[in-house]
Amino acid sequence: MAANGEPTFSLLLFARLSASLVAILVLTWALYFTTSFLPQTLSQQDLIYSVLHPLLMVIGFILVSGEAILVHRWLPGSRKKKKWVHLWLQGVALGCGIFGIWTKFQGTEGVVANFYSLHSWMGLLCISLFGAQWLMGFLSFWHRGEVRMSRMRVLPWHVFLGLYTYGLAVITAETGLLEKLTFLQTKGVVLKRCSEAMVVNGLGLWLAMLCGLVILTAVSPKHYQSIPTTKVAYTDSKCLTS
Ligand code: HEM
Repeated sequence: MAANGEPTFSLLLFARLSASLVAILVLTWALYFTTSFLPQTLSQQDLIYSVLHPLLMVIGFILVSGEAILVHRWLPGSRKKKKWVHLWLQGVALGCGIFGIWTKFQGTEGVVANFYSLHSWMGLLCISLFGAQWLMGFLSFWHRGEVRMSRMRVLPWHVFLGLYTYGLAVITAETGLLEKLTFLQTKGVVLKRCSEAMVVNGLGLWLAMLCGLVILTAVSPKHYQSIPTTKVAYTDSKCLTS
């Protein structure tokens, strides 16, 4: 029985290691290379908002929602407990995502003036899908009057939309990293080959790795069936088993 759980254990371990590396890289970038986040206004408050956006989106939104996806794979106990933790963690991720986007609205140009980039459009799509998904999950899993059959019918869609939104969040973060780094390099603030560029590119790479690991862990079968040892013998027209 122990051997059956081993592939999931290894996947969980690698996913956790990737998540830790992603957290270290984004913290290093945001807290060590602070000059890259200095706003034109040079105000301390704007600097905090500028640093908070990648931190909240990567750690609060992507890492926490990834952990919420994995809850069903490792948390012992009843299904009800797993669902509560899953829903609660997704709620925390949604809160961080909304707060993270809100930090970008604190500029002087107003809300609509900001939405010019592919990153911002994808971000909006992503957070809207995530919010709708959370609400759907809440209603279909916790509504007492809901019959079991209709919950079972919604589940495949819930899984698909959840994994799709998670992937979308990682792609959105990748476009954010690319946009920010290209902007800094074009302005000459950051060199093409320097330690900061390596940190940001490494962050993007590990985010992509993490995304694959989380999705693979989520879709991999919970229990691997042992291969039957039954011998199969073929004759010209019949298949005989022993
Ligand atoms: C799941 C992750 C992310 C989501 C959902 C997201 C979402 C958004 C949204 C909706 C905006 C538009 C807000 C506005 O323009 O007022 C925005 C702006 C921005 N984000 Fe992100 N973001 C994410 C991750 C990141 C990361 C990792 C960075 C890296 C620094 C980043 C950098 C930026 C920058 C520089 C802007 C302002 C320029 C622009 O609007 O494109 N974002 N983000």
